[in-house]
Amino acid sequence: MIISAIVAVSKNNAIGKDNDLPWHLPADLTFFKTTTKGYHIILGRKNFDSIGKPLPGRTNIVITRQDSFYHSGTVVVKSITEALDFCVKANQKEVFIIGGSMIYEQTQNLWNKLYITRIDTVVEDATVFFPEIDFSKWKLSWQEDHLMDEKNKYNYQFNLYERPLK
Ligand SMILES: NC(=O)c1ccc[n+]([C@@H]2O[C@H](COP(=O)([O-])OP(=O)(O)OC[C@H]3O[C@@H](n4cnc5c(N)ncnc54)[C@H](OP(=O)(O)O)[C@@H]3O)[C@@H](O)[C@H]2O)c1
Repeated sequence: MIISAIVAVSKNNAIGKDNDLPWHLPADLTFFKTTTKGYHIILGRKNFDSIGKPLPGRTNIVITRQDSFYHSGTVVVKSITEALDFCVKANQKEVFIIGGSMIYEQTQNLWNKLYITRIDTVVEDATVFFPEIDFSKWKLSWQEDHLMDEKNKYNYQFNLYERPLK
């Protein structure tokens, strides 16, 4: 099974502020939706709280240590291993790790693909960050630059990095 991570980062590697995204970039939300639609997605409980509802058209697997956590429309698991096992048993060819920072941190050694949107801004007051990635170990297989417009207030760049399956 291919394990993909998908994230949007600022120039100083920020991904979140006060349990929310630090920016509003509709083009990236559309890219995220198109890329993950139909797949199983794995997310931390705080990221789920931030989104507030299961993302439609995807199997939402929420990781938490809480015994009592329940939200209709989600699969709740107690560990990353349990989340990945669920996807293997469901015969998934590819799964998406969608954050937040704790989940990226703990899964980074497992990723085969990394969809990273670089946003041309610095978030001084960010509260969560993406782990430092050694990109020399990755191959850039696709890149697309976009300039800011009416709806998207920053320049942004889509990237897809890949590294061989073990
Ligand atoms: N820019 C982006 O692309 C992007 C993407 C995703 C998220 N974000 C941002 O990231 C922030 C949230 O990230 P975060 O790091 O605070 O939280 P998170 O990673 O979303 O969730 C952390 C929670 O996941 C559970 N958890 C983590 N590791 C676990 C493990 N090994 N076993 C069982 N449960 C585990 C725990 O839940 P319990 O406390 O319930 O036990 C923990 O509190 C938000 O600001 C969000 O907007 C940004």
